[in-house]
This record gives sequence, C-alpha cells and structure tokens, in this order.
Amino acid sequence: MTHLATRSLSDLFADRTRVFGTSIWTDILRHKEKHADPAYFGDGAPARELLPIDRLRDASARAWEDSAGLLGYGDQKGYAPLREWIANHLRTRDIETHANNVLVTGGSTQALDFACRVFLQPGDAVIVENPTFLGALEILNTYQVEIIGVDCDDHGLDVDKLQQALIANPQVKVIYTIPTFQNPSGTNLPLDRRQRLVDLAREHHVAVFEDDPYGDLQYSGEVIAPIRALDDQVLYFGTFSKTLAPGIRVGFVVATDEVMEKLLSTREVSDISNDRIMMRTVALALEDDFLPGHIQECRDFYRIRRDAMLAALEREMPEGIKWSKPDGGFFVWITLPAHIDSDRMFDVAAEYGVVFFPGEWFDPDREVSHTIRLSFSTVSVDRIDLGIARLGEAIRSIL
Ligand SMILES: Cc1ncc(COP(=O)(O)O)c(C=O)c1O
Repeated sequence: MTHLATRSLSDLFADRTRVFGTSIWTDILRHKEKHADPAYFGDGAPARELLPIDRLRDASARAWEDSAGLLGYGDQKGYAPLREWIANHLRTRDIETHANNVLVTGGSTQALDFACRVFLQPGDAVIVENPTFLGALEILNTYQVEIIGVDCDDHGLDVDKLQQALIANPQVKVIYTIPTFQNPSGTNLPLDRRQRLVDLAREHHVAVFEDDPYGDLQYSGEVIAPIRALDDQVLYFGTFSKTLAPGIRVGFVVATDEVMEKLLSTREVSDISNDRIMMRTVALALEDDFLPGHIQECRDFYRIRRDAMLAALEREMPEGIKWSKPDGGFFVWITLPAHIDSDRMFDVAAEYGVVFFPGEWFDPDREVSHTIRLSFSTVSVDRIDLGIARLGEAIRSIL
C-alpha cells in the first residue's frame, strides 16, 4: 500500500511533455511576490474595462432559447451563423473565403494545435520568426519538430534570411508567422515582404500558418492586408480573445477544402465539436454590427495606453536602450545592451516593483537574452508611468 502511494509515474511521461521545464506562470508569480505592489506588464489580454460583459450575458441567455438542436452532436465545423459572420468579417480585411472553409475552435491555440497535428511529425522542421509567440513554441515543441528561428528587424521577418533558411533546411514543412502587430515585437510586416514570403513558400513547397490575433487592433500607420489575402493556400488563424474576451475560448482557422477535411478528422478525435452554446452566444453578441463599433472603442482606448508607454520610455530609459513603436497590438519590445541578461534584469526589476516577460522566452533557442516584452493593454496610464519609471531605475542599477 505504502509502495503504491509513493510510486511516481513521471518516468512514464512521454518525451513530448518535456517542454521548457517549469511553467512560466510559476516564475511570474515568484517575481510578483518580490514587491508589495508590482506594476505588471505581462498580460497579453484585453483591458477589463473593454470586456463586453453585459452584451455577452444577454446573448448567452438568448443562446439557450430553442437550443435543443445545438445540444446534440453535429455541426463539427462550428455554429453555422458564426462561421458565416467570420467569413463576412474577413472580407473587410481582403480575405475571400466561405463559411465552409472556417473551422471554429477553442481559441486560436486549439486551431494551431489541430493544424500542427495535421502537418507535423517528429523530424520535420518549422520556421518561425525569432522572436515569436511563446504559446506557439510550446505547441510546436509537443510535436517534437525542429524549430528554426529566422531573425527579424524593425519591420518584422527578414525575408532574405527566410530564403537562406529554406534553402539550408529542405526538411521544413511549415512557416509559422505573425506578420501583423507581432507578439512579442509589435512589428507589422510590409506588403512587399508578405508577397516575398508567399512566393518563397510556393517555391519551396511549404505551408504557411498565419496567426493574426491583433490585426483588428490598429492604432496608427498604414493598413496592410493579411498574407492570406495574397494566397488562399495560407492557413489563417483568428480569435475573439483580443476583441471580445479570452475566457470565452472562441477562435477559428480558415483553410482550403483538402486541409479542412483533415482538420475536421483531427477535431473528431479531440473534442468532437466544441461548445456551440458559446458559439451561438458570440454570434448573437455580434448582431447589429456590434464589432466594428467595439473595435473602434478598443482602438481609441489602447492608443492612449500605447502612447503613454512610448512617452514614458522616452522619458525614463537610459542611453543605449531601444524599443519598438508598434502601430497596433498589445506589445512593446525592448532591446537592452547585449551584455545585460534579461533573466538578471527580470530578477532585479521585480525587486524594483516591475514585472514583465524576459525576451529569452520568445527565442526558440533561448539564446537571445537582452530583450524584454512589455504589454500595455491591461495597465492604466498612471501605472504605466510608475512601472516604466521603476524599469528605468532598475536598468540604471545594473548598467
Ligand atoms: C500570436 C498569438 N497567437 C495566439 C494567441 C492565443 O489566442 P487564443 O486565446 O485565441 O488561443 C495569442 C494570445 O496571446 C497570441 O498572441
């Protein structure tokens, strides 16, 4: 009995579970505890003030009316009126598609996982931007593929380096990219580079996964259509997590018929179909053209926070520190002098009362370690001022 109680099963865990050691959230919590009132720049989430709670609550009540049809099995692509809404909305971003080519998923995270399951097997390689979204790195790692980071500059992915990486690595199957208001760097890939990316993908016969959670949240600058608008073979991932709420877990992927067939069979062995009451809730919440007005409100709100963060950085950062000036999304990317290690910066800054994500977490090789990601979306202007002043002090203390 004692033997059974103390027996550990950890030696039986599959290799794919060995992703990145301890959870980043444990690290974040530990750092937050170093100060009585830390300014926290870690959240890649919408501001609480913008969550359309009343609208979702009312829509949810209505979603249960006459719901017997929704509560059985079926409609595996997702609630049809929502798929139609998504296909129509994407037309405003120059993406031509049909509701039948939209699969509604548990956030874009689930869509990305399904797509990886369809395309990737151990030994394949995937090209990503370096830096890239931490969540995507975690998903890719579970598929035991080689992850090849391609450098970016102030405008995003360096497409000459992309070409070199494709030539040097014929085992690449997929390019995963966040061209618009990238997480974590905030860059917006120019149109000519988007075109070059799809041309290279065609030439080297690789799939493109375009992840676009922030495209609607643009505050300034030129509007550039998604890569999917240039090539209908591109798998396009979207989500309501940033414009409505992440807790509802509603996202989607747009794919061609042949890919959709495989995505559907992947879904069948995962969750059969996901929560259609929630999908109907979202569809009802979006009625009467709600989203365009709400998006405009979000843009005006986040623009103020972005401007506050850029102004505070201008005021508080010592010589030698660089930062991105994003036209949209939630993030500002800071580059410190090369000799500063962002893990050390993470520790010291927490003592000064400011917590963020160290840049190393976004590097597939975990090598570049003098960068940090700051998110402004959930932080009020006075807390931004306070937190960036603290960051300035912390940086000065170790320069
Ligand atoms: C680039 C990117 N992709 C995907 C996601 C995940 O979104 P979802 O909540 O739809 O799973 C995020 C969220 O931070 C993100 O930044």
